[in-house]
Amino acid sequence: MTATATRPCPRVLTGDRPTGPLHLGHYFGTLQNRVRLQREGADLFVVIADYQVLTDRDVADRLALYVQELVLDYLAVGLDPEHTVIFTHSAVPALHQLLLPFLGLVSVAELQRNPTVKDEIAHSRQVAVSGLMLTYPVHQAADILFCKAQLVPVGQDQLPHLEATRTIARRFNARFGKPGSPVFPEPQALLSQAPLLLGTDGGKMSKSRGNAIALGASEDETARLLRGAVTDADRRIAYDPVGRPEVSSLLTLAALCLGSDPQAVAEGIGDAGASRLKAVVTEAVNEYLRPVRARRAELAEDRGYLRDVLARGNARANEVAQATLAEVLEAMGMH
Ligand code: TRP
Repeated sequence: MTATATRPCPRVLTGDRPTGPLHLGHYFGTLQNRVRLQREGADLFVVIADYQVLTDRDVADRLALYVQELVLDYLAVGLDPEHTVIFTHSAVPALHQLLLPFLGLVSVAELQRNPTVKDEIAHSRQVAVSGLMLTYPVHQAADILFCKAQLVPVGQDQLPHLEATRTIARRFNARFGKPGSPVFPEPQALLSQAPLLLGTDGGKMSKSRGNAIALGASEDETARLLRGAVTDADRRIAYDPVGRPEVSSLLTLAALCLGSDPQAVAEGIGDAGASRLKAVVTEAVNEYLRPVRARRAELAEDRGYLRDVLARGNARANEVAQATLAEVLEAMGMH
């Protein structure tokens, strides 16, 4: 047997806030990575972070609906509940209990320095910054450490939270662990290789900015969104991410869907202009997503099955969280 065959499968955790349907940016940024890890035999946990929705708003709209939509998106792209644990935050009380000892391991100054939190505060819909906003990276450390994840596939903006998680794991082990047998591993981030896709307005593709193509969008809606995409007046289509970011992002999207590269797609269009580019991208996206969308539509008919997937995921997450919490309380001398 080879060394790789005997190495245990890595424990992987990642997740999303249920604030809207997942889009192409998520697909090429992280979902594809998750499906690949699942195929390679990773022990994968996916958290639907419903509590985390309340960090930048006082009331969460349509939470139950968005949770179901996330489950649908996950299953449609190929996450398989026989191999992957899909669960909601709020269904796992023992996970949240880890927040208390973890909060004791970080300083207020550290919380206030987190660049992603600062950015979210700048864009927040809240009148005042809540304690939940300031402490959510510590909560996210609990999401990651409750199952002792070793690998966390995330986007660039999540790196400060990963760093906070590593700090918390290290400090917990140093303060409460026995020498030589740490309670928590220090998890590593896994960044996607795929280039960043822009939204149709040229800004960051985002669920809340109306500039994203949802995985579950219809073919007509996809065509409409792409027809309205910002481009430029130069009829010669060329890949130039610095000088022509919008055109280049569309070329990248087409190339990702076609399994080609952006330069080759640009050459195929030549000087046929932005309308031809948009037609090419639309066809590539619709073709690529057709099987995902068909599966999504089929699964959407079976709400009972979706509920069952979550119920099973929640049960497994609870088992794991209770075992970790017991270990934590024991290490802290409480039990
Ligand atoms: N903060 C992540 C986001 O906004 C979602 C998330 C919550 C997460 N808990 C997590 C991601 C744990 C990775 C690991 O997208």
